[in-house]
Amino acid sequence: MHSSSVPHTDAYDPHTLRQICEQVIESNWRDGFTVPSSNLYPFQWLWDSGFIALGWSWTDMGKARQELSTLLQAQWKNGFLPHIVFHDDRAEKQYFPGADFQGAHTHAFAPTHVKTSGITQPAVLGFVLEYLYQREENPDAHANFYIQAISRIFDFHVYLYRDRDPLKENLVYIRHNWESGTDNSAAWDSIWAGYEAPVYEVRRKDTHHVNEAQRPTKKDYNYYLHLIELSRECGYDEARMYDRLPFLVQDPLFNTLLVASGQSIARMARQFGLDDMAQQSQQWAEATSIAINQKLWVDDLSLYGYYDLRNKRMIAIRTAPGLCPLFAGIADAERAARMQALMTGPDFSGSDAANALCPSLAYTDPEFNPERYWRGPVWVNINWLLYKGCLQYGFEILAERIRQDTLNLVARYGVYEYFYPLADDRQRPGFGGTAFSWTAALVIEMIRQSEHPGSGRASIHP
Ligand code: GLC
Repeated sequence: MHSSSVPHTDAYDPHTLRQICEQVIESNWRDGFTVPSSNLYPFQWLWDSGFIALGWSWTDMGKARQELSTLLQAQWKNGFLPHIVFHDDRAEKQYFPGADFQGAHTHAFAPTHVKTSGITQPAVLGFVLEYLYQREENPDAHANFYIQAISRIFDFHVYLYRDRDPLKENLVYIRHNWESGTDNSAAWDSIWAGYEAPVYEVRRKDTHHVNEAQRPTKKDYNYYLHLIELSRECGYDEARMYDRLPFLVQDPLFNTLLVASGQSIARMARQFGLDDMAQQSQQWAEATSIAINQKLWVDDLSLYGYYDLRNKRMIAIRTAPGLCPLFAGIADAERAARMQALMTGPDFSGSDAANALCPSLAYTDPEFNPERYWRGPVWVNINWLLYKGCLQYGFEILAERIRQDTLNLVARYGVYEYFYPLADDRQRPGFGGTAFSWTAALVIEMIRQSEHPGSGRASIHP
């Protein structure tokens, strides 16, 4: 198995790769934020911005801070942070569903200076902010920025625990599959099978840019649009959406990233003398970590699953997000070792030692598809989370393999959005958006951080 062998490395020059990636984020920089990919995603996306800010922190700390401030300025009055900030009205023609279809920008809590969506995305900003702070040459000079950002991110967490955890389980739910960040995950299949969605006249723009076989299917897209339409009909009122939406899920990745961000906000708030905020954040992070272990661990599968809160049933499936609790130190040593074995065994490594880690869905899952978006291909952000998680648990060989697999894929295919994981056909192109910002940013992060191993978040071993 891979864990005992030295990670394979194709020839690439890290310096050149890093320079290419620096040019990608530079070219995707607009006035105050970075687009994920200029054709496919012409606005600002929440978790993209977090990952992208990490890339900027190595080359231009001003842009890293600006990226986050621009995003945080779009926060709603109730603390909600939108997954898309539609900065550019002209680009709306390029994208569907745009702000008007989503219909959230007229909400009483929404900002008035810019249009936003009414769904959110994973809470990465807390730990991103802590990385930035640790990398500041003169942190005191930017104390105002950090204090403001800490309290806005805290307000987002307050919103999540207040409005997304009605049963007070310390697990927050997502109410649209796009909120997970893993849009067409096979985890949602049983939910879609449980109800009918109308057929929408296809106005999608993504399939103009990308081969249809590599995107969510038309049928799945009907469900996504239907959820948006229902949310709009509920006036994006949280209580009404909770009563009405067919999709309410406690997602392992979303809750894990909230724990990691909560831990970071607790540490930073303490440092700035914001004691109540520190205490509350710490308490939430601990409680959510316990809840993830109690409710989402699937013993038969040796990883974390999803809970379908609407239909009151567990979704037991082997996805890469189900391994991500490693990132926040949530798993105990025994569970972590079982996930390590899963990653190095046939489920996530497949049968060919040259396959790349980590497919977004296990090779052994009947729904595994090496091309279709979140149902098989490798994504660099998930790999980065797993790389960091493995390092924390001392799985150094596995961590290094994930890092090398990631850098090799990007060096071989280009700075794409997602990648073919199998070793059987290395002639294929990369998939999705080209010059994709978080791929570039996290490659910079993986190359630079291994040159400066001390420059990261403090280890939070369980
Ligand atoms: C896709 C991805 C999502 C990402 C967005 C912008 O929808 O699934 O995670 O945030 O594109 O890059």
